[in-house]
Amino acid sequence: TKRAGITAVGHFLPEDKLTNSDLEKMVDTNDEWIRTRTGIKERRILKDKDKATAFMGAEAAREALEQRGVDAEEIDVIIMATVTPDYLFPATACLVQEAIGASNAYGFDLSAACSGFLYALSTGANFIESGQARKVLVIGSDKMSSIVDYSDRSTCILFGDGAGAVLLEASEDETGIIDYIHHTEGDTNGALCQPAGGSMNPASEDTVANRLHFIKQDGRAVFKKATVGMADVVAEIMEENNLAADDVAWLVPHQANLRIIDATANRMGLDREKVMVNIDRYGNTTAATIPLCLYDWKDQLNHGDNLILAAFGGGYTWGSIYMKW
Ligand code: ACO
Repeated sequence: TKRAGITAVGHFLPEDKLTNSDLEKMVDTNDEWIRTRTGIKERRILKDKDKATAFMGAEAAREALEQRGVDAEEIDVIIMATVTPDYLFPATACLVQEAIGASNAYGFDLSAACSGFLYALSTGANFIESGQARKVLVIGSDKMSSIVDYSDRSTCILFGDGAGAVLLEASEDETGIIDYIHHTEGDTNGALCQPAGGSMNPASEDTVANRLHFIKQDGRAVFKKATVGMADVVAEIMEENNLAADDVAWLVPHQANLRIIDATANRMGLDREKVMVNIDRYGNTTAATIPLCLYDWKDQLNHGDNLILAAFGGGYTWGSIYMKW
């Protein structure tokens, strides 16, 4: 069987920036606190009222296809990782399929919060390896501003909007996705969720009045879990594949907090120059962070480079992927 390789990467970032000094005018916070606690300086916000997650995902997908010179009609499967779907249904993947004209593709959404892109990437790789699909689009897109409470200083500083997309095709050599380890732990005690809008708490005057359609996070509890979870899973995948720090060209971490990223790199014994970090510019874009890193660094990546991808998020969900670029 052939491995699944990433043959193109596209992205979309809204133009509007929300800086730390903008946030100082909205909630009781300050630039210094945000930078030292999170590493974030600014985020992008999709302000257009008539555009959402599917729009950004489609833009990212189009760029990836153009880069590779692939026609949308050649796509077999679209996997859309998001926690901010345009609608609860139809799936956002269906909207993207229509928007880009991928008339021969089927698609579905995958909900794993900040680990969404990794879960989606390994799922897509399985389709390629099994021979069931030749070309798979894996997209991570989130309009986090649609569920962020801009009166809650503990969460509104963290998130931004954006999308990234990769094209998966069978690799012609030994490069591609080699291994993955994913974990789920459903016992979170509500530490990270969007309580209302689903079948448990459908939208009502009460859910709106109580601001239950926004993200709720117990930052301290999630921070502890994320720091341990990401470092552990990276150690696990390196051990499983007999990788030492010197073998790793890049760590591609989910961008939730610079301190979580640093803890993971320290555990690996990896120099900071080998860690992709763009949280300062985009904040946490949930499913989009990892493909946005791949996009920003693609010109620095060499064929055959060992990459370790890692994420931790709501669910809880976490995981790691080992791939050769
Ligand atoms: N500005 C100023 N002060 C603030 C702010 C703010 N924006 N937010 C909180 N504070 C205050 C708190 O009220 C608290 O004050 P107190 O000591 O008087 O009670 C103090 O700062 C410390 O608060 P903590 O929550 O303990 O701060 P912490 O160092 O943990 O940083 C943060 C908070 C950045 C949210 C951190 O906990 C974090 O990054 N958590 C994990 C986030 C994450 O990884 N999420 C998973 C991915 S998201 C997803 O899956 C959708």
